[in-house]
Amino acid sequence: MAKQTPPPGDKQIKTLERVFSKAGAGSRTDARSWIGAGRVRVNGKMVRNPDHWVDLENDRVTLDGKPLRAASKTYVLLYKPKGYLTTYRDPEGRPTVYDLVPEVGAWISPVGRLDLDTSGLLIMTNDTDFTERLTNPDHQVPKTYQIKASTLVSDAQIERLRQGVDLADGMTRPAVVTRLRDSEKYTFLEMTITEGRNRQVRRMLEAVESKVLKLVRVAIGPIRIGDLPIGTWRHLTPEEVHALRGRAASKVIADRRHARHEEPRSEPRP
Ligand code: URA
Repeated sequence: MAKQTPPPGDKQIKTLERVFSKAGAGSRTDARSWIGAGRVRVNGKMVRNPDHWVDLENDRVTLDGKPLRAASKTYVLLYKPKGYLTTYRDPEGRPTVYDLVPEVGAWISPVGRLDLDTSGLLIMTNDTDFTERLTNPDHQVPKTYQIKASTLVSDAQIERLRQGVDLADGMTRPAVVTRLRDSEKYTFLEMTITEGRNRQVRRMLEAVESKVLKLVRVAIGPIRIGDLPIGTWRHLTPEEVHALRGRAASKVIADRRHARHEEPRSEPRP
């Protein structure tokens, strides 16, 4: 079916399939199948086009005759073990992060991704605006990783990581890198980056002639892993959600100020 053009400049207009994920009622794939099966009506009329534009404020959407209501917002912090995919279903039947959060009771999805071989903090939520804020590269939300490198890493290599390295998809932003310790054969590092490119940490280590043997994400913005046991989850507190939202917004505000050559404000405006 041909895509229709959205009415210009109206943020409350979404495609019918997105209305379901935005409300936390199901994935876009779920929504497409419900729509295709004729179970969805807009203002009483069956709509079978997932790209049909819906006005969130004025249109009434029903699934099996029941009005769609926005699910309450759920924010989960999972300590993902390695060997779990950050996807909903795997055609090869491998375990996914959804196997670890079955009892949450809301349709949540991961905020960004972690590789199959990476463990550590993963936020899952049904708040799509929150996800967009946290994953938008302009917001530069810091993510901190602990790394076991395959070699001893010299100060010069660490300095290169700090300055930013040249990857196939361009230079990385400067990183904060701390040497945690050296064993006889390996260096353990902590690295904070503000981008979320595919396999970025692994590629950065390769760019300085080492490799990642083990990778754990230990913090996202101000949220640290603490003593959450591996494979378990907890709800984020309202303060943590607020802090993450603030972290995502503050970089953009700082950039806007910078663009206007304003100084950061230390006192409230009179
Ligand atoms: N960087 C990586 O290389 N892998 C991850 O899973 C996350 C960051």
